[in-house]
Amino acid sequence: MSAVRIGIIGCGPIAQAGHLPATVKAHNAQLYAIADRSPRLRSYAAAVYEPHVVYADASELLADPQVEAVIIAVADQFHIPLTLQALAAGKHVLVEKPLGVDVNSCQQLLAVSQSSDRVVQVGNNKRFDPGIAFAHDMTAQLGERMAYRGWYCDSLYRYTVTDNLQPTIIQDAQALRPDGNPKGDRRKYLLLTHGSHLVDTARYICGPITQVQTRLLQRAESWCWFSAVTFGDGSLGHLDLTVTIRGDHHEGFHLYASAGSIMAKTYLPWYHKSSDVEVFTSHDQQYHRPLGADGHSYKRQIEGFADTIRGHTAQRGASVSDGLAAIQVLTAMTLSANADGATVVVADVTGEP
Ligand SMILES: NC(=O)c1ccc[n+]([C@@H]2O[C@H](COP(=O)([O-])OP(=O)(O)OC[C@H]3O[C@@H](n4cnc5c(N)ncnc54)[C@H](O)[C@@H]3O)[C@@H](O)[C@H]2O)c1
Repeated sequence: MSAVRIGIIGCGPIAQAGHLPATVKAHNAQLYAIADRSPRLRSYAAAVYEPHVVYADASELLADPQVEAVIIAVADQFHIPLTLQALAAGKHVLVEKPLGVDVNSCQQLLAVSQSSDRVVQVGNNKRFDPGIAFAHDMTAQLGERMAYRGWYCDSLYRYTVTDNLQPTIIQDAQALRPDGNPKGDRRKYLLLTHGSHLVDTARYICGPITQVQTRLLQRAESWCWFSAVTFGDGSLGHLDLTVTIRGDHHEGFHLYASAGSIMAKTYLPWYHKSSDVEVFTSHDQQYHRPLGADGHSYKRQIEGFADTIRGHTAQRGASVSDGLAAIQVLTAMTLSANADGATVVVADVTGEP
């Protein structure tokens, strides 16, 4: 298979720590082009990762016919407009999570993507954590699902840890950022950036979420969303999003089903270490546990993206529908929390988280 020629839009923190090295390491991708409005960031990325061409703006990169696929690694507010622009230019797209910042624009993108033959994948890299992928694939053997418990508790000490695990991140005031200060709205920002992982993993293991009841507490400069959810098959769920906790990053899930169960502990992704997953299957009374030696979820999501583009594998990565569903669930959580935990039907929601 010929390597897919990739252009990376945005050379900010996630590109420097994740996508630039991951694209160079991916066995079926080639780092063909990069673009960033910041001269400092694109010079740095060009010097270290040696793409064939370097652009200042996304539109120049999208006009290059040699670029087959793009990774959109820019602020959340730019995800939908740039994905639409990339599809119009005929490119396959891997767009960072969250897919967007409101339900309506995600629905508009869904309509456009449905009439396109291009692959669109959302950057929910945890689907490419070998332990989580194994858990997903084993659910078919577990019979009827009964209950799912998922948690994502970000550590107060995250940056102490990631400063050691990641390359030194180069910043620049000339980087293109959205108007205003969207990250200043901590409630919305934290829900979108962390909740998009929690919800996507739950949906990946247990299917669509149809109803949500959420309570939210802010205390000690931390936010805690406790949500009772119902899955499409009627199974029950509890989702815990707490940012931040005074302790180590704490993430994982349990699944109880009629013919088995799953216990999963997930690490901060920058360790590039598979989740510890044990799947018990009733039929053989055994626990099954993968090694997952290659735990680089960012590299593996690019390899999966390239395989899908070449038609070798079905898409494991989150689709536009999955990205939209995550924004709908997060919006339902906000509506429910604002209404003292009232039940909100996910399919009915509009607006933003
Ligand atoms: N999957 C994960 O684990 C993970 C982790 C961290 C961040 N993210 C996501 O990655 C995204 C980017 O995060 P970040 O911290 O790197 O963002 P950032 O805003 O700091 O950096 C984005 C870069 O893109 C450039 N840019 C924006 N629009 C451009 C355009 N039209 N043309 C050229 N350059 C352009 C900017 O100049 C900037 O340097 C966010 O959506 C975030 O949620 C994902």
